[in-house]
Amino acid sequence: MVSDRPARGAPFEPYKTKVVERIPNPSREERERALVRAHYNLFNLRSDEVRIDLLTDSGTGAMSDRQWAALMLGDESYAGSRNFLHFEETVRSLTGFPYIVPAHQGRAAENLLFSTLCRPGSVVPNNMHFDTTQAHVRHQGAVPVNLAIPQAYDPESEYPFKGNVDVVALEKLLSEGGPEKVPLVMVTITNNTGGGQPVSLGNLREVSRVATAHRVPVYLDMCRWAENAFFVREREPGMGEKTIPEIGRAFFDLAAGATMSAKKDGLVNIGGFVATRDERLAERLKEAAILYEGFPTYGGLARRDLEAISVGLTEATELDYLEHRIGQVRYLAALLEELDVPFFHPVGGHGVYLDVRRFLPHLADDGLAGQALVVELYREGGVRAVEVGALMFGTGPEGESRTLELVRLAIPRRVYSASHLAYVADVVGRVYARRASVRGLRMVYRPERLPHFTAQFAPQ
Ligand code: F0G
Repeated sequence: MVSDRPARGAPFEPYKTKVVERIPNPSREERERALVRAHYNLFNLRSDEVRIDLLTDSGTGAMSDRQWAALMLGDESYAGSRNFLHFEETVRSLTGFPYIVPAHQGRAAENLLFSTLCRPGSVVPNNMHFDTTQAHVRHQGAVPVNLAIPQAYDPESEYPFKGNVDVVALEKLLSEGGPEKVPLVMVTITNNTGGGQPVSLGNLREVSRVATAHRVPVYLDMCRWAENAFFVREREPGMGEKTIPEIGRAFFDLAAGATMSAKKDGLVNIGGFVATRDERLAERLKEAAILYEGFPTYGGLARRDLEAISVGLTEATELDYLEHRIGQVRYLAALLEELDVPFFHPVGGHGVYLDVRRFLPHLADDGLAGQALVVELYREGGVRAVEVGALMFGTGPEGESRTLELVRLAIPRRVYSASHLAYVADVVGRVYARRASVRGLRMVYRPERLPHFTAQFAPQ
């Protein structure tokens, strides 16, 4: 087994630069003014006010020369585009799912699936729902339930598969409900909400066994499936000689279908899909797609975007790409560790998640400590991160309170260099050194749904 300790040396970039984009450098005064104008919500910043943007790894990656070239092959026919046929063939051969319905991004795929399968009162288990997934389940009047293993909630546990589902809890839920109550089981690989942590193949096998016994289909949220496969290859006994596509296929073979945001492991700036083995369901998904997304051979996308996804899905499985990708996360973690900065262990696939309770213990119980940290990272060095805690997830009608308070430094794919990451570590380290001076925030505007996107704050 390969150690998951963060690597010390800067990871080797398996690409060279062909086009460059200037990085803004707002002054301290400009940053202060921007914070006030943005109501201390970094979603309201203009990108030219941000020096290093680690808000998300979604749709923010750099496409390869091959992907840009693929855009020129766009066949913009409304129906039956060549690009769709190529995309369909690529996703089929990767996943083995026969029916593929494109959508403009992951949450659109979630909307198609949940609006088709869920009814008011349905229960949807998941290791951990992402915010949009949770919101879409609720939008159908259904109840999202998180069933990750206990280690998932312990930021210091070094358990190698902290994305795993608590199979005993799943069995109990399905015994009480069954297919009438539980239309599907979702498993998110990797578990973004819980630190980008992987799910093991062994765990998915158990989930599938239990769900099948209760006649409930398992769907994967496969946004970061290639990163998940990388960890499985490294950590799961017997998997070290397998390729990423082989490991991915072993996961897909255990599922009835999947939702995908191609903005992650599809290496594109926009796109997604829902896939299934169920022919009748596929027909209903296509009907929903026509209603919400467009004809099912384009799904809310320009057809050239489908061509770029076909290339991106393949590039995301290359080992040198993944070694660099996960290597960047580990490099940033190693630099932060030298500064004693507390973060969620072991680091996952797409970013470092700062442990807010240990970072800002004096603000621990006010529910906005993560947002206060996000504001401070921006103030200190123009680094934009995102809160993944009580603000993003709130307290649902189910009364489930958030036990993890994290701030995610998400690393976009193929965008930043090691020196950018060293700059980020330096900024985080400086805030950590003066952490006792960090003031809390209060919320002055709270929207009804998905509050972190549009809420407004003021200093306490
Ligand atoms: N599922 C997971 C696990 C996600 O991380 C995301 C998006 C989605 C579904 C929805 O996909 O954005 O294409 O509609 N995550 C982004 C993030 C937004 O920052 O983690 P989408």
